[in-house]
Amino acid sequence: MYEVRPGQSVELLKELHILTRDGKMNQDSRRKLKQVFHLYQFIEPLLQEIRQQRPDVRLVDHGAGKSYLGFILYDLFFKTLAGGSRIYGIETRAELVQRSRELAQRLDFSGMSFLDLSVADSITSNELPDEVDVVTALHACNTATDDAIRFALAKRSRFIVLVPCCQAEVAAALRKNKGAVLKNPLSELWRHPIHTREFGSHLTNVLRCLQLESHGYQVTVTELVGWEHSMKNELIIARYQGQPRRQPAERLNHMLESLGLTELHERFFTSEQGLSR
Ligand SMILES: C[S@@+](CC[C@H](N)C(=O)[O-])C[C@H]1O[C@@H](n2cnc3c(N)ncnc32)[C@H](O)[C@@H]1O
Repeated sequence: MYEVRPGQSVELLKELHILTRDGKMNQDSRRKLKQVFHLYQFIEPLLQEIRQQRPDVRLVDHGAGKSYLGFILYDLFFKTLAGGSRIYGIETRAELVQRSRELAQRLDFSGMSFLDLSVADSITSNELPDEVDVVTALHACNTATDDAIRFALAKRSRFIVLVPCCQAEVAAALRKNKGAVLKNPLSELWRHPIHTREFGSHLTNVLRCLQLESHGYQVTVTELVGWEHSMKNELIIARYQGQPRRQPAERLNHMLESLGLTELHERFFTSEQGLSR
């Protein structure tokens, strides 16, 4: 059972419908709440680590939706930070952006910005800083997670925290190119349509991890919450370690080639990476 923490805004919890107007836990919101607080436990140590090195923390949350995650992060961590620390919520649904702006104003959460932008467009938007510390994307739809990775690489984000949603692009490419890889006995892994979808989904996250590793990130993959709460519960946390690495890039390239997915090369490689097909 969740308990309100000392200093936490009861007003916020009511606005997010986590608490009812009379202060009781709203049963319908429990699932989302559990996910967000569980995720907070992973993100808080990263924020603390950043704070030891710089006073301002810049976090960008992609596919923010109603910004549960952003508001909870702000309330529990950013609220007490002075200066230029800021959370940016990126969301294409204008009405949700507007609602979040109004809520932040009502709560006096002045270090929050909400931008009505696609994740892809946010990479070049001048409303965002050139460098950020943390990028999050919680169930950002389809390829929005991939765009969030691109954003994080472009902004040299120190940490990247992803809970991917379903992604249809890799499965579609597997489906289309089945004939080309029939000689490969491993193609049995995705021959049947349901396996194409499930393997495509699994493979997407495997390719994302290799992509991040190839850019010098150390990647941890774990489970966010039990299966009873969400079907999409893979948590990928990437920590920047240093130089780009050749071996994961080579493996990524090899996987794309052997699975008949070379058309997705641009999705997982940036133009400045040396490996070509
Ligand atoms: C499943 S919701 C998750 C919302 C929130 N992160 C959460 O977990 O509660 C996905 C959100 O991503 C937004 N979205 C989808 N594709 C996007 C894109 N390319 N750029 C920005 N937002 C996107 C949708 O409008 C939706 O609000």
